[in-house]
Amino acid sequence: MLAATVAGGVTIAAAAGYGAGRESVPETPPPPNPATLTVPFYGTYQAGIATPAQAHLSLIAFDLPAGADRDSLRRLMRVWTDDAERLTAGRPVLTDTEKELADKPASLTVTVGFGRKVFTAAGREELAPQWLRPLKNFPTIDRLEPQWSGGDLVLQICCNDPLTLAHAERALIKDARTLATVRWVQHGFRQEQRPSGSMRNLMGQVDGTVNPPLPANERLVFIDSPNPALNNGSSLVVRRIRMELDSWDELGRHAKEQAVGRKLDTGAPLTGTKEDDPLDLEARNGDGLEVIPAFAHARRAHLDGAGQVILRRPYNYSEPLTAAEIAEGMSANSGLIFMAYQADVDRQFLPIQESLAQLDLLNQWTTPIGSAVFFIPPGVAAGEYWGQALLAE
Ligand code: HEM
Repeated sequence: MLAATVAGGVTIAAAAGYGAGRESVPETPPPPNPATLTVPFYGTYQAGIATPAQAHLSLIAFDLPAGADRDSLRRLMRVWTDDAERLTAGRPVLTDTEKELADKPASLTVTVGFGRKVFTAAGREELAPQWLRPLKNFPTIDRLEPQWSGGDLVLQICCNDPLTLAHAERALIKDARTLATVRWVQHGFRQEQRPSGSMRNLMGQVDGTVNPPLPANERLVFIDSPNPALNNGSSLVVRRIRMELDSWDELGRHAKEQAVGRKLDTGAPLTGTKEDDPLDLEARNGDGLEVIPAFAHARRAHLDGAGQVILRRPYNYSEPLTAAEIAEGMSANSGLIFMAYQADVDRQFLPIQESLAQLDLLNQWTTPIGSAVFFIPPGVAAGEYWGQALLAE
């Protein structure tokens, strides 16, 4: 269809079938170019947590070298903060060797997190939150691999353009130089934003529906503390969870919906019709059985305790298979890079994970193979650097 804009601010549909008799409509401004969109870097909280999730993720954990101290950490945070401020605004970093690759920010965000060793190396162990330690092992479900677990620092880099993302990732790794070495890298993706903010995962489910609405629930996601080093920070739990898609394929649609307690097409609870309908955990069918089964993932993850909620920001992963793996019958090396932000890991994340480890039918087709916990320092104002209240001289 062709459209012409004429004086007076109306657009007239002019193609065949849209001519005579159609009313003119008010002119709407062209949609913004997604390549040039930016997410504000400065703020009370770091970007990349409560801001809408972009299509691509690079999650990088780093180890600190022996001898790291408050000075070296401060140097690293000064460089990374400056890099992130520039890149997220569509500007190259100071040492950029491919400056043109920075000019389409495409909603790039860079979020930094600290492991316990940052507090220790900075001589500030007493400030480390109690929950800042590896999660306890869940022997019924965990098959953790060191290559996806732990880390002293993390960078969560998210962007709607994979080229911009790859360039930002390389710039930030290069600038860490001798100050930190890469421990693991996880690449993920998610579908273009659904209106609710949820996505589809590779099991085909609508994922990410029930999240605490923000800003009303900010204190569930961000830390409230008299100490400026912690205040307005957060925590990030990363779980790399493999999906056993070949055996999942063997289930019928009904059984798949029972395993989660939600419908595959709309994501609505089995007791509702729309994605955002609340779960009715009391509802029973004609036989007196619970409509959302006792073993359903959504029921088991839905705790009664006050504030036992988390902000989920998951990404899918799908690694290429070798010809040999395909010949052996493998059809996928896929899963979820499960990321949850909350003010307190022990109070919020842990009880949910304990409930799921105890009983959750979904566990039959999912295996946690990586695990890491980070403190997310507060956001910065212009002229400040990440972790300043912790790392200042
Ligand atoms: C591969 C692993 C996982 C898959 C495929 C998965 C999938 C889903 C799906 C489809 C839903 C329902 C829609 C929604 O509210 O998003 C859901 C809900 C939820 N999941 Fe998971 N999930 C996984 C792992 C986890 C883990 C590890 C946790 C936390 C320890 C978790 C916590 C939750 C919570 C809190 C809800 C919302 C429950 C409510 O309705 O209140 N999930 N998940």
